[in-house]
Amino acid sequence: MEPVLAPSARSRVIVESHLGGGEHRTLADDVLDGLTRPFKELPPKHFYDARGADLFDQICEQPEYYPTRSERSILATRSAEIVAMTGAAELVELGSGTAAKTRLLLAAMHEAGTLDRYVPIDVTEGMVRASAHALVEEFDGLRVHGIVGDFERHLDRVPPPVAGRPRIVAFLGGTLGNFTPGSRRRFLRSLSALLGEDGYLLLGTDLVKDVATLEAAYDDAAGVTAEFNRNVLHVLNRELDADFVPTSFDHVAFFDRDREWIEMRLRAQRPQRVHVRKLDLQLTFAAGEELRTEISAKFTRERIEGDLAAAGMVLEDRLLDADGLFALNLARKPN
Ligand code: SAH
Ligand code: TRP
Repeated sequence: MEPVLAPSARSRVIVESHLGGGEHRTLADDVLDGLTRPFKELPPKHFYDARGADLFDQICEQPEYYPTRSERSILATRSAEIVAMTGAAELVELGSGTAAKTRLLLAAMHEAGTLDRYVPIDVTEGMVRASAHALVEEFDGLRVHGIVGDFERHLDRVPPPVAGRPRIVAFLGGTLGNFTPGSRRRFLRSLSALLGEDGYLLLGTDLVKDVATLEAAYDDAAGVTAEFNRNVLHVLNRELDADFVPTSFDHVAFFDRDREWIEMRLRAQRPQRVHVRKLDLQLTFAAGEELRTEISAKFTRERIEGDLAAAGMVLEDRLLDADGLFALNLARKPN
């Protein structure tokens, strides 16, 4: 439900949606491409329908899932410093979700007297609308330009940077780690184009650490992450008229030490046949066969510096939480 806004607040919100029929095509293409490979795989953006978004929120509250709390604690203690350093008037946020942590940055910008505009972009329409409306009420004079879209396809819809009004482009929650290494660098390059002359990139990246801590974060005892992982099968059943039995797949999460990433998979408990009716596609899973649903890369300083350099940016500052679990990286284009 969208709140009823006072006219003055309403005039400060724009939300545009770029998800039309195209989404079905993307999902269909990803299924045709990913599920007919010898090693089955799906990209993670299909997790986030309304139920998936809700499950993700619950993941963030699990005791094992430290990244959200760690990143929030950095923002809570260092936002003023980040704002002072960047002089930011505008915040563009990719994969903004509920914008819970973002409020800390917006508040610091408000405090510094520079806050002008917030531009969230997310595939989950309800969250973009709800956060846009809540934020114009919370922050006096703030303008919100919300974009419902896919940050891999719709970055051209982000308003161009304005000279003299520096922006921060934030990509929080470790979502950068959900790209494979090559596409991660390509994606970073597309972000650098949003910065203008005086903009900064603010990247939340999880750190490499002991395997037990990492694996527990992606396999909480309450089973919320397992349910989130299986949610992608519910999405396929609904959107493509498939007949997956989600309960017959086990949630698997492990840390790959060589690649330094968490890998999430769904493992068929027994042999199964699945019919994806909208695509007229028959799939088979052998007993124990796995479908990879996500990677979540963990970053050393060297790794993020290398990625930024490949995308034509330099690491300006790196802020860690008190427990050294998570990092916020501030990057920009070299002068
Ligand atoms: N930034 C929030 C949410 C992280 S979860 C936080 O740090 O807690 C990842 C978010 O990215 C979700 O809200 C999801 O809907 C969004 N997302 C994932 N893939 C996306 C894509 N390709 N385009 C746009 N949004 C995407
Ligand atoms: N960006 C989050 C991360 O990599 C996304 C995430 C957390 C996630 N837990 C998950 C994605 C479980 C799929 C399944 O930490």
